Amino acid sequence: MNTYYCLDDSPRFEMIELNEIDSTNNFLKSYRPLQPKEVTLVTAEFQTAGRGQIGNSWESESGENLLFSLLIHPQNIEASQQFLISQISALSAKEALEAFTDGLSVKWPNDIYWHDKKIGGMLIENDLSGHTITNCIIGIGLNINQEKFHSPAPNPISLFQIIGKKIEKRFVLERFMKTFNTRISSLKIDGGEQVKQDYIQALYRRNGMHPYADETGRFEARIVKIEPTGHIVLEKVDGSRHTYAFKEVKHLIPLNQETDIAL
Ligand code: BTN
Repeated sequence: MNTYYCLDDSPRFEMIELNEIDSTNNFLKSYRPLQPKEVTLVTAEFQTAGRGQIGNSWESESGENLLFSLLIHPQNIEASQQFLISQISALSAKEALEAFTDGLSVKWPNDIYWHDKKIGGMLIENDLSGHTITNCIIGIGLNINQEKFHSPAPNPISLFQIIGKKIEKRFVLERFMKTFNTRISSLKIDGGEQVKQDYIQALYRRNGMHPYADETGRFEARIVKIEPTGHIVLEKVDGSRHTYAFKEVKHLIPLNQETDIAL
């Protein structure tokens, strides 16, 4: 294990680069340095038990993709505003990849999409104490150089599959960290207004009617807004509005007249 400062030369930042670990999120959960830094970044070349959302695993071939987690202790973000961290992380990942391709968007709440395919995902785990977030672990997987995917995930894609060449993963990480720091600092100035506006602009399917499914079945709807809590508000063809938490509604992609792919 190498531990040294880079990407940010201030003593408030620590970066740890690992070859192999079960999960970079798990690593940070049990990382207890004598002098904790304001920001700790851990990267891994390979995860033996990479974790995705809702208990899924995260596929990533050794050395091919960006796998990293950030530990922050956001003093200026109330627990009720924690979705801002998710928005900032998703925007920063999208903007980091935009140096290499266009066609990127953020699929609510925080998947990174290239057209209808998933190029990145994140798993954010917060420890709350009253109204404050004491520890926030932001785990991000971005598919950079992987040539083929083997898991049953419905629609993975890598930057290599899009642009046809392999790139230095560190460039993407550097761009991510720069944007992330700028956006986190902007919260002190405007309380997150710019982040919220940019997030709406970046949303996958931000315009028009698209197919979704909830517990009552399939329907067409448009995105009306995203609540500060992170809930999505959809408006169906009949004008009725419905508010959903994560995993209460799925985006569908029609495969043919009878079948949809649920994302
Ligand atoms: C998703 O299902 O979309 C979230 C995927 C998150 C994967 C990243 S890879 C780095 C970090 N460590 C983990 O175990 N998971 C996250």
